[in-house]
Amino acid sequence: MIQTLLALETSCDDTSVALFQAKIDSTKNNPEWIKVYYHKVVSQYASHQPFGGVVPEIAARDHLAHVGTLIQEAVEMEKEKGIKIDACAVTLGPGLIGALMVGVLAARGFATARNIPLIGVNHVDAHLAPALLLHQFDSQSLNSEIACKQISYPALALTVSGGHCLMSILHSYEEREVIGKTLDDACGEAFDKVAKLLGLGYPGGPAIEKRAAEVPQPTIQFPSLIQDKSKNLVFSFSGIKTSVLLKAKELTNGANTADIKSLLSKAQINEICSAFQKAAIAQLIDRLKNALKEHVGIKNIVVAGGVAANQAFRKELENIGLPVHCAPLTLCSDNAVMIGIQALKIKKDGFTNHPFPRYLKA
Ligand code: KG4
Ligand code: ZN
Repeated sequence: MIQTLLALETSCDDTSVALFQAKIDSTKNNPEWIKVYYHKVVSQYASHQPFGGVVPEIAARDHLAHVGTLIQEAVEMEKEKGIKIDACAVTLGPGLIGALMVGVLAARGFATARNIPLIGVNHVDAHLAPALLLHQFDSQSLNSEIACKQISYPALALTVSGGHCLMSILHSYEEREVIGKTLDDACGEAFDKVAKLLGLGYPGGPAIEKRAAEVPQPTIQFPSLIQDKSKNLVFSFSGIKTSVLLKAKELTNGANTADIKSLLSKAQINEICSAFQKAAIAQLIDRLKNALKEHVGIKNIVVAGGVAANQAFRKELENIGLPVHCAPLTLCSDNAVMIGIQALKIKKDGFTNHPFPRYLKA
């Protein structure tokens, strides 16, 4: 059976719409192939950059400004390709409430107007879907059948983004059990906050990665782990962040936090970035290794979310000793393809109809 889906993602600071088809084989758990006809991500980086982080109200307004145009473009593509959308998938959460509502209301309008099912998707689950299914995905992949991989389970999954830092056991393609979370910041959020302190703009991850690459062996060392053994699967980035702040203050003779970025030299900033990135990655790797000790029989590692785009992290993952499946680089950050392919899992004998979140129930 071939399904045609329109998918929408508006949970944070990227407005994304995708139109794609998937071949579902009822004897297999995951789709056989997908074919993406339209995929666009409108990033709001420029809107949030001056504030060093995402401003929820601005995010919602930016989604509102773009989502209609993207849906329209997808519908034009639908006509051009002579296909017919069977269902509409949308992110239900977690995310910024105003931002989510823009997507959910747009999707609800579309599904109602077309009289087609609406499928609500969990954003964190969805991040893992491209890592589980797709070897690669880029602009060249549009309009061609992309064969989906079938990995063996159980798998150990890590979702590391700006909003989430979650470790899970995937018992099957559909079944995820959370085994570890962050006590405070998400990993990407820590990258963003350190970048803000150092004046590197938003989002912080790519900027820190670039600076860190200048200093392969930093002389500074930041503590990376909570030492409490009962928290072997727990993440925490607030300690690393505080160490960065203290070091930056020490290097600038106790300057005010807001002045630090202008007082540090380029070499000092690069050094701090490298030491911070090293500590953050060491924590992610340590937690994965702990999980592998506690959960025997894991066959694969699956990593997704914005931080999974980090090349230094990917390199460290290679040493874990199990096959690693990272989301394709273009699908690490928020995107509608992941929402659409996650929606296919929710469908079993026909699509789940109109799953409205509590905030939209009458
Ligand atoms: O998955 P995503 O787009 O949004 C959320 O669901 O949160 O992730 C965005 C996060 C940001 O915090 C960003 O700084 C981080 O991912 N990020 C990175 C890299 N690229 C993006 N962190 C480290 N290294 C990168 N190369
Ligand atoms: Zn995300």
